[in-house]
Amino acid sequence: METRSENVLEVCDLRTHFRTDDGLVKAVDGVSFTVKRGETLGIVGESGSGKSVTCLSAMRLVSKPPAFHPTGTIYFDNNNLLSLTEPEIQKLRGERLAMIFQDPLTSLNPYLTVARQLTEVLEVHQDARPTAARQTSIEMLERVGIPDAASRIDQHPHQFSGGMRQRVMIAMALLCGPEVLFADEPTTALDVTIQAQILELMKNLQKSIGTAVVLVTHDLGVVAGITDRVAVMYAGRIVEEGTTAEVFANPQHPYTRGLLESMPRIDTPIQKSLYAIPGLPPDLGNLPAGCPFHPRCASATNQCQNIYPETKVISSTHQATCWEIEGTK
Ligand SMILES: Nc1ncnc2c1ncn2[C@@H]1O[C@H](COP(=O)(O)OP(=O)(O)OP(=O)(O)O)[C@@H](O)[C@H]1O
Ligand SMILES: [Mg+2]
Repeated sequence: METRSENVLEVCDLRTHFRTDDGLVKAVDGVSFTVKRGETLGIVGESGSGKSVTCLSAMRLVSKPPAFHPTGTIYFDNNNLLSLTEPEIQKLRGERLAMIFQDPLTSLNPYLTVARQLTEVLEVHQDARPTAARQTSIEMLERVGIPDAASRIDQHPHQFSGGMRQRVMIAMALLCGPEVLFADEPTTALDVTIQAQILELMKNLQKSIGTAVVLVTHDLGVVAGITDRVAVMYAGRIVEEGTTAEVFANPQHPYTRGLLESMPRIDTPIQKSLYAIPGLPPDLGNLPAGCPFHPRCASATNQCQNIYPETKVISSTHQATCWEIEGTK
């Protein structure tokens, strides 16, 4: 019997840098993480911390130039995605690796009917005959909760509401039953009720298909509700990683603590203003020496200003990169 690794994705020391007019932007700078088959890993962090670029690098969709070819390794089923040829990665994309983009209109073509866009995926990747492809597409639209899917499939994306479009995107991403789905802020543009419905839907489909999900979001409420593990990104690196329960109950990095404190809670008194992490997100083209979070950190020391911190192990599933943390190296 074929033995399959427990990890469906292993990212090691990923670096994606951009050449810009303001100099070299190290959008992703030494990111490592693994994703187990069928699990959901949340990636959280402020705007510009490198979340989207991490996913786009794995899908091999960062535009070069301005990006340099990413370095490091991203293993997916014994293939290093970073060293595949363009036809090889194209074959995986859409079939075994899929992505829901931050901007919903990026992945739907406004000029083509939904039918055309969905059936094409099946015809290209699974060699499906047109009638079978149409039938499978209608079934998928039904599964994501599009009413009257058999006739709506012939409409264009603009004839769908924002929430419905998001469902169409999820249907398209899951059509071939991918092993890994990168979902980049899949619900940010939606109102809260629809957001909850879409997340529930993703969770159910994920369970039935067995897809592993890398869920990018800046909403810690979403992370708490849907992820198994969470990685916190700051300035192009992961600064804390653990099971969702560990990170929420016992956050170690001052940045993670700040994110959690700035999260509105049901028991926060109305008069109390929410905590905000002081200072501005870092300029990736011009990072300070030492720990990039030190200018915003209340407990920063001389060491933090000069030397990048070591990663400390808090438990077999929890680690964080900060000088102030007690733990083994
Ligand atoms: N094509 C590009 N050219 C130059 N710089 C880029 C490009 N794409 C991304 N960047 C830079 O890389 C950094 C990380 O961007 P990324 O989109 O990954 O952030 P993010 O964490 O997804 O933020 P958000 O929460 O706003 O989506 C940013 O500083 C961004 O300006
Ligand atoms: Mg993004």
